Amino acid sequence: MNSSSELLTWLEGKVALITGGSSGIGECTARIFVQHGAKVVIADIQDELGHTVVEALGKSNAIYVHCDVTNEDHIKDAVDKAVSAYGKLDIMFNNAGISDPNKPRILDNLKSDFERVMAINVTAVFLGMKHAARVMVPARSGCILSTSSLSSNIGGAASHAYCASKHAVLGLTKNLAVELGQFGIRVNCLSPYAMATPLARSFVGIQDDEILEGVMNSLANLKGVTLKTEDVANAALYLASDEAKYVSGQNLFVDGGFGIVNSAFKLFQYPEDEPLA
Ligand SMILES: NC(=O)c1ccc[n+]([C@@H]2O[C@H](COP(=O)([O-])OP(=O)(O)OC[C@H]3O[C@@H](n4cnc5c(N)ncnc54)[C@H](O)[C@@H]3O)[C@@H](O)[C@H]2O)c1
Repeated sequence: MNSSSELLTWLEGKVALITGGSSGIGECTARIFVQHGAKVVIADIQDELGHTVVEALGKSNAIYVHCDVTNEDHIKDAVDKAVSAYGKLDIMFNNAGISDPNKPRILDNLKSDFERVMAINVTAVFLGMKHAARVMVPARSGCILSTSSLSSNIGGAASHAYCASKHAVLGLTKNLAVELGQFGIRVNCLSPYAMATPLARSFVGIQDDEILEGVMNSLANLKGVTLKTEDVANAALYLASDEAKYVSGQNLFVDGGFGIVNSAFKLFQYPEDEPLA
């Protein structure tokens, strides 16, 4: 967010737990949180990758916990490890997520795929929220973030299961923000447009990041920039920090305005041959 190292102190003294922290948005957020002074617990099922992330962050700044987010005991254990290693939990980032195969017709969709997506994208977020609240409520302080998606707001951008799951993350966020406001605990979620990560590569079926980003940029509302994991991590940094101390119950879109465009209308298209000045 700022290249001057002495100013990177937005999370000084804070402790964060990041699910899905071995890869993509989670890994990038862990890096930026540590740069801003936080201690981080990476919770994931990709153990080798997670340990590599911890090595890169420095063992005095981060630990790795094997955690299948669909398993309540694992989530409980990850929260307890954060508290035992660092004394408290200030920031819970429920970020782990998956998509199912991209099958646009509901008749082709399997119940088992739907349930798997709901287990990781919704039930696990509920469990992360529950166990974060378990330690944050007595402390009367904390911040809970979850990664939702553009699909929390619009249809047609992803599978039925994924869209339903990301709407549910927003529902949980709103309900918990109401419950935990009395304890000074803020609850928000983030809703990004698409960016090149293993999840997006597998969903879109394009393995080359440059091609994937080219496709996404051609569909994007905001031109001249490419959405990167850093952009979502910086939004998470803001929400996790005291700069956002009165922000709760919100769904922060990091989508370049994509979600508010009605593509049926082309009112604001400049003709290609019209001079701009
Ligand atoms: N990449 C995008 O375009 C995009 C857009 C909007 C929202 N998102 C959301 O961002 C979040 C992070 O995804 P990403 O794009 O960084 O993908 P990613 O695949 O790089 O990261 C997802 C991480 O979640 C972990 N994970 C999966 N299942 C798990 C489980 N059962 N227990 C613990 N960890 C598990 C994976 O191991 C991986 O490290 C997801 O919630 C996703 O839905 C991504």
